[in-house]
Amino acid sequence: MTIPESRVRVDLGSRGYDAVVGAGLLDSLGERVTRSAGSGPGSRVLVAADDGLPTQTVSRATRALEAASLKPILHRVRALETEKTFGTLEQLLAAMAGHALDRREPVVALGGGIVGDLAGFAAAIYRRGVPVVQCPTTLLAMVDASIGGKTGVNLLVQRAGTPELQKNMAGAFHQPRLVVADVEALRSLPDRVFRAGLAECLKHGMIAADFGDPGLFDWTESALARILARDAATLAELVTRNVRVKAAVVGRDEREEADEGGRALLNLGHTFGHAIETLPDLSPDGNPASAPLQHGEAVALGLVAAAACAAAAGRCPPELVQRVKEGIHRAGQPTAVRGLPPTDGLIRRMMHDKKVLAGQLRLVLPAALGRAAVVADAPREAVAAGIDAIRA
Ligand code: GLY
Repeated sequence: MTIPESRVRVDLGSRGYDAVVGAGLLDSLGERVTRSAGSGPGSRVLVAADDGLPTQTVSRATRALEAASLKPILHRVRALETEKTFGTLEQLLAAMAGHALDRREPVVALGGGIVGDLAGFAAAIYRRGVPVVQCPTTLLAMVDASIGGKTGVNLLVQRAGTPELQKNMAGAFHQPRLVVADVEALRSLPDRVFRAGLAECLKHGMIAADFGDPGLFDWTESALARILARDAATLAELVTRNVRVKAAVVGRDEREEADEGGRALLNLGHTFGHAIETLPDLSPDGNPASAPLQHGEAVALGLVAAAACAAAAGRCPPELVQRVKEGIHRAGQPTAVRGLPPTDGLIRRMMHDKKVLAGQLRLVLPAALGRAAVVADAPREAVAAGIDAIRA
């Protein structure tokens, strides 16, 4: 069955671009890069590729670039949070400078969110900015990280003599020229990585009512069997609907400046999630061999914590907590985790979140299924109730 290609506009005026979703799109990557980045014949293209990608995916992309008379230069990136550093960024920049790439020669980011963030940041600062085309190959990167131009690296910060990885603490907004989401790339994803992307889809479902898709959470839940079987048409619908929601949010508040109703809503589950994601010993199934948590798993737990916090603060009906838990559980994501440190320590970690303003924790809390709000004054007891809700 042929899957029709869908196109979602990320409407940002002169920085606007299309996100194209379909099956088999990598085979026409060359023409797409040529058209969107304005690369002429013979132009070099730095392809930053996740070193865990199947060789076949990488060669499909490079062959397609060659077929359009472009010259791909392959640079492999180890897609680990601990490698999303200035050191790795410098290697990428040095590769670009080593080949003397000019300001019109683009970067293609081929991989998940880590590769997209690193390659996007390199494109943002190499010669003060070159075009980037995002080619996400994980569900998480297709529905979230590749859309909206956030790029960056993590910082390893010493706090009271202990090193702590702080995520995405340095970066830049650099919108891509195009996003190419080929759902065929999802077929070879390890199950755990694939499922972790569903947490961001459920998160979108929890805010989508004000962004044109009030039924997204329900639809995602009802389509889970086909999604988990990786049915191409269902995946294309899943990615397209999520990209539409993300594009609508970004179109309203590109740089996360709005106090209400803007991009900050995408942080639903993330303040709780980031506080636990970087704890190296937590595992989604209690098995130490599965530690640490993946980003999506931490977000899944963060969504449960946010719902429980909202219910404890009287901001959403208690039934919503159960509803969210069920959706997350059915998507194969954890709803509770063993070995969480004491609540005080976790609240302290949450205070290091980028979203803290003037020493005040700003949480995104659900109000109903499909609606959430930024809350600056959640009582400490409600935050603690959120954390306790995810203790196994
Ligand atoms: N992933 C959150 C954002 O793009 O704003």
